[in-house]
Amino acid sequence: METNILGYLKHHLKTRLIGCELHYLETTGSTNDVAKDLAEKGSPEGTTVIAGLQKAGRGRHGRTWISSQGNLAISFILKPDIDRLYLLPAISSLSVLHTLRKLGIDASIKWPNDILINGKKVCGILIESQFEAGILKYSIIGIGINIKLDVLKHPEIAEISTSISAHTNKSISINEVTLILLTELENLYTRIDDAYRIYTEWLDSMETIGKRVKVNMGKAMEEGTVETVNEEGNLILLRDDGTRIEVIAGDVTLLKY
Ligand code: BTN
Repeated sequence: METNILGYLKHHLKTRLIGCELHYLETTGSTNDVAKDLAEKGSPEGTTVIAGLQKAGRGRHGRTWISSQGNLAISFILKPDIDRLYLLPAISSLSVLHTLRKLGIDASIKWPNDILINGKKVCGILIESQFEAGILKYSIIGIGINIKLDVLKHPEIAEISTSISAHTNKSISINEVTLILLTELENLYTRIDDAYRIYTEWLDSMETIGKRVKVNMGKAMEEGTVETVNEEGNLILLRDDGTRIEVIAGDVTLLKY
């Protein structure tokens, strides 16, 4: 039985910003919603919300995120300068990548911020930002990591997902994963002004570059080869007719041909 996560974090955490205010809920709907409420009520940047069990986890593009007990569902309140907002997908996905690396696990990023182990998704990130009169009030970074999710129990994701323990065959401590994640997020976020370094590391860690993909942009679907991701974080897709499009938001599926 793991020791209480709040006690563990308070004892071990050495960050200044991330986790400055820590909230743990045994059960909740979505940690992003809790973090949003806290931000509206004035909780500071760095506030962190963790759920033991998240019952209504939300994913990108209106999807559901499955997160049973023993998996990490966590959200952070961040308040970057608006002109650095575009770096949040890179910063958050790299912080998970660094965390996995510290645990001895090799992973990669699928644009914009899915984390894959051997091509299967182990982590999803949902970033939701709130603006008022063109001013960024706050961003909520929601991170879900499959730590011991038995994907075989969930047919809808069994083919495309994995978990840390399925990959390592070991039981990994959720407390340890959380501690490393908070530390890595702080390390990257406090260097947000070093945009080029963050961008190049993100690009180097992305397995999407050069691959044939299908991009679902909600209203339209595009197919082609990913040429690169530009410094603004947008995907540059080379269509088969030689024309290019810049994709700001979409869901990428890697094709096998
Ligand atoms: C995705 O891949 O579609 C993003 C999934 C994001 C899931 C996390 S779990 C913690 C936070 N709370 C939510 O409701 N969603 C995010």
